[in-house]
Amino acid sequence: MTSPETPALPPGGVRIAFVGKGGSGKSTVIGHLLAHWAEDGVPAAALDADEPGDEENGSLVEWADLADLGAPVYPAPSRAGIRERAKQLTPAGGVLAVDTGAWVRKAGGTHFAVLSAVDLAVLTMAPTRMELDRAGSILAALEHLESVGAHCPKLRILLTMTNPSAAAADEQEAALTDAGYQVLRTRVPRSDSRDGYGQAFGRPPRLVSGSPMDQLAAELLDVSAEVVR
Ligand SMILES: Nc1ncnc2c1ncn2[C@@H]1O[C@H](COP(=O)(O)OP(=O)(O)O)[C@@H](O)[C@H]1O
Ligand SMILES: [Mg+2]
Repeated sequence: MTSPETPALPPGGVRIAFVGKGGSGKSTVIGHLLAHWAEDGVPAAALDADEPGDEENGSLVEWADLADLGAPVYPAPSRAGIRERAKQLTPAGGVLAVDTGAWVRKAGGTHFAVLSAVDLAVLTMAPTRMELDRAGSILAALEHLESVGAHCPKLRILLTMTNPSAAAADEQEAALTDAGYQVLRTRVPRSDSRDGYGQAFGRPPRLVSGSPMDQLAAELLDVSAEVVR
């Protein structure tokens, strides 16, 4: 999918953090992205900054232990070491994806350390009013970083758990766009079928050409090339 028009990434590579509510699909998305990038020959790695104890279904590190994701996944060091480690692990001309746990806004916490370490933050969000309200905390955190002159990643919003009928997602996208945010073109549909994304944990990601995950892998390379110069 990405091969013919894959944009060249900078020699130093790019770092993309995935942030959002627990259960919004961050780890599932990253697992698939790693596999698609690997298939397309894009050097990739992941850093898992999800903190143990979060009541999510499984971390990216655990998934990578159970199945080949096509790229290495490393556990993140303590908060203070994240920035340095992220730099170290970013493949030349490639992508480092950074996974995070359920969003908590805590100055000096893991999430702020991750945001200070990446070029691009992808905020995963299901198209519901409640998710929009919750995301306010993440958006405020980014604005805070900017206002104090700290490194602030570029932001893109990824709609996940969308429904095929799309009305709710269209509405959410319109509201976000009106508010000045940039929403990724690709949406990750909720899929509960036997081979769907909901059942992917612990198994090798299914590589389906032209699927939402395949399209997202390509779109994020485009966005990365655009935001990191
Ligand atoms: N696109 C999807 N459709 C249906 N279920 C999904 C999808 N993506 C993830 N899931 C399921 O939702 C739960 C949360 O996904 P996960 O990727 O762990 O989210 P997060 O890392 O944001 O907490 C898991 O049980 C996972 O299997
Ligand atoms: Mg997770």
